[in-house]
Formats: sequence, structure tokens, C-alpha cells
Amino acid sequence: MKEFYMKRAIELAEKAVGFVNPDPLVGVVLVKDNRVIGEGYHKEYGAPSAIEEMLSTIKEDIYGSELYINLEPEFDIIVNSGIKKLYIGMLNPDKTKSNIEKFISSGIEVNVGILKEECEELNEIYKHYTLFKTPFVFTKWAMTLDGKLATKTGDSKWISGEESLRFVHHLRQRVAAIMVGENTVRQDNPMLTTRLEGVQISNPLRVILSKYGDISPEANVLKVDSDTKTLIISSINIPEDKEKFLVNKGVQLIKIKEKNNRIEFKDIVKALGEMKIDSLYIEGGSSVLASAFESGIVNKVYAAIAPKIIGGKDAITPVGGIGIERMKDAIVLKNVKHEIVGNDVIFKGYI
Ligand SMILES: NC(=O)c1ccc[n+]([C@@H]2O[C@H](COP(=O)([O-])OP(=O)(O)OC[C@H]3O[C@@H](n4cnc5c(N)ncnc54)[C@H](OP(=O)(O)O)[C@@H]3O)[C@@H](O)[C@H]2O)c1
Repeated sequence: MKEFYMKRAIELAEKAVGFVNPDPLVGVVLVKDNRVIGEGYHKEYGAPSAIEEMLSTIKEDIYGSELYINLEPEFDIIVNSGIKKLYIGMLNPDKTKSNIEKFISSGIEVNVGILKEECEELNEIYKHYTLFKTPFVFTKWAMTLDGKLATKTGDSKWISGEESLRFVHHLRQRVAAIMVGENTVRQDNPMLTTRLEGVQISNPLRVILSKYGDISPEANVLKVDSDTKTLIISSINIPEDKEKFLVNKGVQLIKIKEKNNRIEFKDIVKALGEMKIDSLYIEGGSSVLASAFESGIVNKVYAAIAPKIIGGKDAITPVGGIGIERMKDAIVLKNVKHEIVGNDVIFKGYI
């Protein structure tokens, strides 16, 4: 039953995906005499905690009850509540703020680590942002069976199947920001919005890497409103007229000093972290992905492999750049999992 209740807490927490960043996703289930007497979740950034949410709906006496929660709770709200047992999925990522010892010395029984792996993955963004104050970065690309990101003409619509495309929108819903390079804007003219049916939508901030602001006035990413915002990352040497044009379009601009003609991704994630952006999904293309991997800021990789073959030595591959010389220097993913989605296989793993 312990796993069952924790699974339910995770399920509740997931209802707020896209709305809590940079807060954690938290769900709670309160059990007394083998009966669920309360449930709750943290609904949006700055809103009451999952426990407060749940307590506000319970009418009966909770003395002696057991709380299932995916992330270690605050001390004060538990200590005088009457809750006698805590089942915690994962500890506070900031060890200096952990309350476990305090719970135990207050006579509250504590069990840590139920469905730990699932709980850690649920809040991997929160954990990373808490520890480093920079966004958790993941990449996702779709490639053909012969390892291409697009045809030799740059056409990539669509490599993956419909089911994998839906998977992309779930990723977009989860993150605070999504990034592509200016060639992708030129070639695909993407909206970079979240499109899912049956759920409330949360659009990520669209981040475009464009050294000198060469973006067409017709680009969809320049259509900005209160729900779909855009941030351009450019060089400090962006021409004045381009800067003026973009700012007039309503986009935000961050200018970063180039190093060896490149904008360093470490500077980009630092700037985004200062804006309270806790997660960045880099969707492509090949050149931007190469820069991201070269700078060492990528934490997680998703790659969809579609059963299509397009050939062409000039057709780009997912990670461009100069590349390494020896296999021993390859980036090797950890905790690799794969899932069949429609006819595609989606790999995921950590760096
Ligand atoms: N299948 C998929 O999942 C997928 C996803 C996205 C895009 N795509 C495809 O990918 C293609 C576009 O890829 P791409 O490689 O040509 O372009 P891109 O990565 O979208 O954009 C490249 C631009 O970003 C700049 N850039 C990259 N790293 C930089 C850095 N560190 N500092 C400053 N500027 C930097 C490049 O400058 P430099 O020229 O100076 O390097 C270039 O101007 C399109 O065909 C698109 O359809 C496919």
C-alpha cells in the first residue's frame, strides 16, 4: 500500500506540471486507519503548499494519521498537526535545510525513500535549480534511423511520428523555457508553444539564440502576447537597428559578450537562472546543440529515433560542431531508458 499511496501523491503533484516553476511539484495523501482522509497538491508558483491545500479541505480529526508526500515537507506545518508518521519520497535537495532529525526528535516516525527514483525524477528540475541556481537543461531531437536531423535541404517536418510529437508538447509543458537557434527559426518558423488537448496549457518562454538579431519580421516567435513571450539572446555587438526592431516587437533581449566569436552557454544559463528560469529545453538545431554540449551545461538527453532513412552526406546530424577525435572521449549517458512511442524509439539518459 505504501507504494500505492506514494504513486497517488506523485499523480497529484503532476497535475501542476508547468505551473509551479521554480517551486517543486508536491502531492500529498493523508491516511488514517487504512483510509484516505485527505489529498492535495501544490497548484501554482507562490500558492499554498500541498499540505496547506489538503488541510484546508479536511473536516475530521487527523490525530494519529500518516502522511505520504513525494518531497520532504517543512517542519512547522507538520509538528503540531497531529500527523504521527511521514512517508517521504525524496529529501530536501538542500541538505542544510533537511528537517528529518527534528521530526524524529519530535516523536514523528519518518520513512524516507518510497518510490525514490520516481520522486527524484519528478523534481529533478527543482533539485538542480535549488543546488545550482541555473536551469536544469535537457535536449531533445528527432532523428532518422540513419542519424540525420533534417534532409540536405534542411527539411525536418516531420521526422518523428504523431505520438512522438505529442511527447514533445508534454516536455514543453514541463519547462520554464525552450530554446532554438536562429537557423531553426529561419528554416522551420516554429511557434514553440505547447499544444495539448484536455489540459490547461502553460507555454514556456521562447528563447532564440541569434548573435546579431537576424530574424525575419514574419517569424512566428516574434508574435508575442501575455501567454507567449520571447527572449532573444544576442551578442553585445548586435546592430542597433536590429535591436530596436526586436524590442519594438515586444521581445526581451539579453546581450552577452562574445568569447572567441561565440556566446558561451555558461553565460546563458547564468542569465536565465537569475531570471528564475529553472529549466531549459534545447530543441535544436545542430549548431546550438553542439554549443550546448561543448560547454558542458546539458543535464539530460532525449532522442527520438524514427524508422526513416534519408541519406545524404550533407544532411545535418543532431550534434554538429567540431566533434571529438576518440571514442574514449565520447559523452556517455547514464541511467539510460528507452520507450517505444508509436513507431519511434525515445531514448533518455543523464549526463
Ligand atoms: N529534427 C529535429 O528534432 C530538429 C529540431 C530543431 C531543428 N532541426 C533542424 O535543424 C536545422 C537547423 O540547425 P542549424 O544547426 O543549421 O541551426 P541552429 O542550431 O538552429 O542555429 C544556428 C545559429 O545559432 C548560432 N549559434 C550556435 N551556437 C552559438 C553560440 N555558442 N554563439 C553564438 N551563436 C551560436 C549559429 O551561429 P554560427 O553560424 O556562427 O555557428 C547559427 O547562427 C533546420 O534544418 C531544422 O529543421 C531539427
